[in-house]
Amino acid sequence: MPVELSSARCKLRQWTASDRAPFAAMNADPVVMRHFPSLLTRQESDAMAERCEGAIADRGWGLWALEIPGVTKFAGFVGLNEPSWTAHFTPCVEVGWRLAAEFHGKGYATEAAREAVTYGFEKLFLTEIVALTIPDNTPSRRVMEKLGMVRDVHADFDHPRIEPGHRTARHVLYRLDRPSSRAK
Ligand SMILES: CC(C)(COP(=O)(O)OP(=O)(O)OC[C@H]1O[C@@H](n2cnc3c(N)ncnc32)[C@H](O)[C@@H]1OP(=O)(O)O)[C@@H](O)C(=O)NCCC(=O)NCCS
Repeated sequence: MPVELSSARCKLRQWTASDRAPFAAMNADPVVMRHFPSLLTRQESDAMAERCEGAIADRGWGLWALEIPGVTKFAGFVGLNEPSWTAHFTPCVEVGWRLAAEFHGKGYATEAAREAVTYGFEKLFLTEIVALTIPDNTPSRRVMEKLGMVRDVHADFDHPRIEPGHRTARHVLYRLDRPSSRAK
């Protein structure tokens, strides 16, 4: 059964067919995609939505569609993901987010990600959740910091899916321990 999560303003839910068009528009927006190697075509965007939907259908959780009830049916995605590629810190579960530009700067990513992280620790019993981005992506790093994540300064890495030397290849890694493992 797909899991749904809610906070004061945000709902994380399974994807629907009507999310495809706004998701493609957001993945073709140079503002949203400025920290990524390239914009996504409609086909690439639909394939990503299908992967997100499929993962949630299979195991209940994943990169959920973000709805802001009373504001918009679809603002982007927020959730948990197991990278399919290999790096020095994988296998792992990462928390990630991508919102349409008109919904940036309102605290939605942080609020929704907090629910996803809580779900990861309390229901999936994860011992650690990581997050990654390029050093220049200040908004994303701010969200990580507001979630209490700490940069592992020894863990910078070149993303294996990005061409070596590309301006978006180098990444920083943030980590968050399961709360109980921080308790005395
Ligand atoms: C990263 C992203 C999800 C953040 O979403 P958001 O809803 O704007 O996040 P929040 O409003 O919760 O917080 C953003 C924080 O970054 C800060 N911020 C926003 N834009 C900024 C900018 N251009 N420069 C510096 N700080 C910025 C905000 O002030 C806020 O910090 P504060 O609470 O200390 O003031 C959103 O910017 C996004 O979708 N970006 C494009 C896709 C992307 O890069 N995804 C992440 C890939 S790792």
